[in-house]
Amino acid sequence: TSAPSSDTASFLRCLTVHLPPQVLYTSTSPSYTSVLESSIKNLLFVSPATPTPLAIITATNASHVQATVRCGALHGVRVRPRSGGHDYEGLSYRSLTTARPFAVVDLAALRTVRVDAGRRKAWVGSGATLGELYYAIANHSKRLGFPGGLGPTVGLGGHLSGGGFGLLLRKHGLAADHVVDAVMVDAKGRLLDRDAMGEDVFWAIRGGGGGSFGVVLYWKLRLVRVPATVTVFTVHRARNNQSATALLAKWQRVAPKLPRDVFLRVVLQSQDAQFQSLYLGKRTGLVSTMARRFPELGVRAQDCIQMTWIESVLYFAFYGTGEPMELLLDRGTKPERYFKAKSDYVSEPIPSHVWESVWSWLLVDGAGLLILDPYGGRMGRVAPSATPFPHRQELYNLQYYGFWFENGTEVSEKHMGWIRGLHLEMEPYVSKNPRGAYVNYRDLDLGVNGGDGVSGYEKARVWGEMYFKANFERLAAVKAMVGPHDFFRNEQSIPPLPSSR
Ligand code: FDA
Repeated sequence: TSAPSSDTASFLRCLTVHLPPQVLYTSTSPSYTSVLESSIKNLLFVSPATPTPLAIITATNASHVQATVRCGALHGVRVRPRSGGHDYEGLSYRSLTTARPFAVVDLAALRTVRVDAGRRKAWVGSGATLGELYYAIANHSKRLGFPGGLGPTVGLGGHLSGGGFGLLLRKHGLAADHVVDAVMVDAKGRLLDRDAMGEDVFWAIRGGGGGSFGVVLYWKLRLVRVPATVTVFTVHRARNNQSATALLAKWQRVAPKLPRDVFLRVVLQSQDAQFQSLYLGKRTGLVSTMARRFPELGVRAQDCIQMTWIESVLYFAFYGTGEPMELLLDRGTKPERYFKAKSDYVSEPIPSHVWESVWSWLLVDGAGLLILDPYGGRMGRVAPSATPFPHRQELYNLQYYGFWFENGTEVSEKHMGWIRGLHLEMEPYVSKNPRGAYVNYRDLDLGVNGGDGVSGYEKARVWGEMYFKANFERLAAVKAMVGPHDFFRNEQSIPPLPSSR
C-alpha cells in the first residue's frame, strides 16, 4: 500500500496550474529561503545540510491546501503542514533524508481568531499563535481564557494536534480537550468538518500529533472562565542553603494534589529551583493555601502579585510585569538558539538521592534545564482514552531542555550528550512499560518510521506507545481508515494499522 513513486516535475507543474503564483515558492524563487525560515525556531535545522521542501505553499484559503494535497497525491509527493513551525525536531519543514521529496503547506496566513464571548467559543485558524488567541480573547472579555501553553509564538495547528498544556491544566485539562469542531483537508483533498470527518478522525486529531491525518485549517474552541483577579509568584530556592532538594521531595507529593485553582511548577537550572505559581483567585487565598499545604516553601504575601489573567500570560511568557499586551502578537521570526528536548512522566515521587545526582548534572559544562509541570486536578478526571493523549494519571511531566547559541559539532555534541545522558540515568525513576513521553515535545531519539505494513507498524509502536500508550493502536486504525496510502507521513507520523492485525 505504499504511495506511487514521486514525479516531482509533474507535481510542480500541477501546482503552477492550480495555484496563484504568489502563494507558490520553489527552490528557485528569490524568497524561498526567507519563507522557509520565517517560522523556524530551532537553529539546528537552519543549515545547508538539512533536506528542505521542494515547494512551500503559503496558503491563504482552503482551496490552496486542497489543490496542493491533490497534486501531491496524484504525483506521489507528500505534504507536511506547518502552522507555527515550533516542532522540536522541525518535522513541519524538514525531513531526515533527501530520498523522498516533500512540499510544505504553510498556514501562517490562516490566522483569523473570531471570538464569540457570549457563547464562550472561538473559531481560530491553525496559523494563529497562542499569543494571538490569548490577545483576542482578552480584547473581548477579561473573564474568559484558554488553557493552552506558555509560549506565545507557538502555532495552534501543531499545539492542538499534540494536546497542548499550560498553567490552566490542573483546572481545565489540555487545550485539545476544548476543541469542539474542526475543519480539515484530508488525503483526498476534501474539506471536512467534524460531522463529515466522523468521530474517530475527530478523536485522532485532538492529540494524536500533527501531520498524520490531514491538514487542519480551523478549530472551534470552547473558552473557559477565568476570575477577574489571579495571583502569581516566582520564588527561588538554592540547592545549598535553602534545601531545594527537600523542597523538591515535598513538591512532588503536594503539587499534583493541590486545589485545582493552584498551579505550582518548578524550573531547575544551575543550582537553583525556581517555583512558579498561578492561582485563580486573590493573594490571600494563595498565601493561605501555601501556608497550609506547603509551609516549607515559605511563600509570603509580598512574593505574590495580583493581576488579570492576560497579565499573567505576559508575566509567564516574558518574566516581568507591565509588559504591553501587544507583545503577544510578536511572532518572533528569527531563530535564536539550537535546542534539544526530551520528556518523561513521573508516576512515583523520585527519591532525594536522585535529585542530588540531578543537581550534579546541572553543574556540568553543557547543562540545560528541567521543567516540572504538575498534573492532577482536572487531568486525573479525564479517561486516558478520551483523547489520544494518555498521560492523565501522572504526578507530573518532566521536560529536559538543552540549548546553546554557538554553531559547531563539538558544542552540539556536548549539549546532546548532556540531555541524552541525564535522560538515560533517569530511566529507573520515571514511568515504565512503556516509558512515557509527550508528543508535543517531539524527540526522534525515541525512534522513527521505516518500512510499510506490519514491520512499519511494529517499529512505530516503540515510540508510538511512549507517546500514546494503548491509544496508539486506535490511532493506527483511524489512519488505516482515512489514509491507507499513508499520504500524510513523516518520521514520526502514525502508520496505518496493517489489516493482518
Ligand atoms: P509546527 O508547525 O512545527 O507543527 C508541529 C507538527 O504538527 C508538525 O508535525 C506539523 O506537520 C504538524 N502540523 C502543524 N500544523 C498542522 C495542521 N494545521 N494540521 C495538521 N498537522 C499540523 N507545548 C505545550 O504543550 N505547552 C507549552 O507551554 C509549550 N511551549 C513551547 C514553547 C516553545 C518556544 C516551543 C518551541 C514549543 C513549545 N511547546 C509547548 C511545544 C509545542 O506545543 C509543539 O512544538 C507544537 O507542536 C508546535 O505547534 P506549531 O504549529 O508551532 O508547530
